[in-house]
Amino acid sequence: MAKKSIYVCTNCGYTTPKWYGKCPNCSSWGTLVEKQDSKNTFVDAKKPVALGSVNVKESFIEIKGEFGDFFGFKLSKGGVYLVSGTPGVGKSTFLLQLSRDLKKSNHRVVYITAEESLSQIAIRAKRLDALDVEAVSSADIDEIVEILKSNKPDVCIIDSIHTILKKDLDYAVGGIQQVKYCLEMLVEVAKSLGIVLFVVAHITKSGSIAGPKTLEHMVDVVFLIEGEKKSNFRVVKYLKNRFGSTKEALILAMRENGLEKIKDPTWQFISSTTHEDGVAYGITIEGNYPIALEVQALCVNSQLGIPRRVAVGFDINRLNMLLAVLEKRLSLPIYSYDVYLNIAGGIKASSTLIDAAVVAAVISSVKKKPIEGDIVFASEIDLSGNLRLFETDRLVLEQISKEYKVLTAKQVKNIARLYEMI
Ligand code: TYD
Ligand code: MG
Repeated sequence: MAKKSIYVCTNCGYTTPKWYGKCPNCSSWGTLVEKQDSKNTFVDAKKPVALGSVNVKESFIEIKGEFGDFFGFKLSKGGVYLVSGTPGVGKSTFLLQLSRDLKKSNHRVVYITAEESLSQIAIRAKRLDALDVEAVSSADIDEIVEILKSNKPDVCIIDSIHTILKKDLDYAVGGIQQVKYCLEMLVEVAKSLGIVLFVVAHITKSGSIAGPKTLEHMVDVVFLIEGEKKSNFRVVKYLKNRFGSTKEALILAMRENGLEKIKDPTWQFISSTTHEDGVAYGITIEGNYPIALEVQALCVNSQLGIPRRVAVGFDINRLNMLLAVLEKRLSLPIYSYDVYLNIAGGIKASSTLIDAAVVAAVISSVKKKPIEGDIVFASEIDLSGNLRLFETDRLVLEQISKEYKVLTAKQVKNIARLYEMI
């Protein structure tokens, strides 16, 4: 059979059977080039085998120290771990401390810095007691691959993927084409040499990992360091984990000498409780830790045809859903308000337990009435306006000290009851 042609955009990778002057996907001009469609070539079919007969070779290296339990005390050889977070959140600090701990257990670690100079890393290493860690400065992917092949370390840190490049590739550093190409090469080397690879990836303002979702599929593990610069607290959590559960989390504080684990983090994200209208306290569960957060809502009469909805630290779609539930179940004229929602502390609640506090804050703002008493809300809200509490969450909530009154679906059945309370 004759091979068919397809056209591929050299900018975004979009494929089409038809040629266009302008790429229908990324709108670049003159970027579509002809390629042979490999779909129509014939290959011998592979025979399926029983999974029990597959030769399984899993090997790990042990990891001790403060961050050990986050990784289940082991790192997978050939595993690629993507570390993401906003600039200044502490990615380099975290990885240098991790390198120090691995080095202490006699693993060979190479820290490749493409962003900062060796002297900048050395200054940080001094504060972190990581002077034994070996580092090299390089931003050239071919050079980095050679470093890995000749040193064959157990663990390698790449800081960061957005600052390394393939020299003869005609794309901008940090652009999707460069990033994808370099990451592909690194993944291949890590797998073939059995190196544990940590790769720093910057995060964009919108919160997605730069170089869109494409990077997530290329690696085994993605974890995120969250927190605001002005607060010392950081939460480390998984977005994806091919080697284990994504439920683990680390709650850390940035101190003079680096990141330190917080033993009892529940109340650390709240500085002092205030009783103003539009403020409610809620609980999220990160890993196995219940974390109290301050939820602020501001509802003002809208002057627009379509009211504004803004959410910081909370999923905008979930906010819209909760507002629709309020409107439908309580007949509140939410459509006439602009709603601004902010979760203080710079962490994004991963648990829907925070729903009740979001709704309480909105009701409090609409009613212009503060919520009295030291109350913390913890329940998911469903589309019927009922509060829900799952058994696993209930067990975690039992750890919370009795000073605060935790109100859940047990005490407050639905949002009508919540409305009456405020
Ligand atoms: P860094 O690890 O450089 O962030 P990233 O790599 O994510 O951009 O961390 C930078 C911030 O951390 C910086 O504002 C200084 C602060 N910091 C401390 O407070 N204590 C320390 O021991 C270190 C190393 C950094
Ligand atoms: Mg850094």
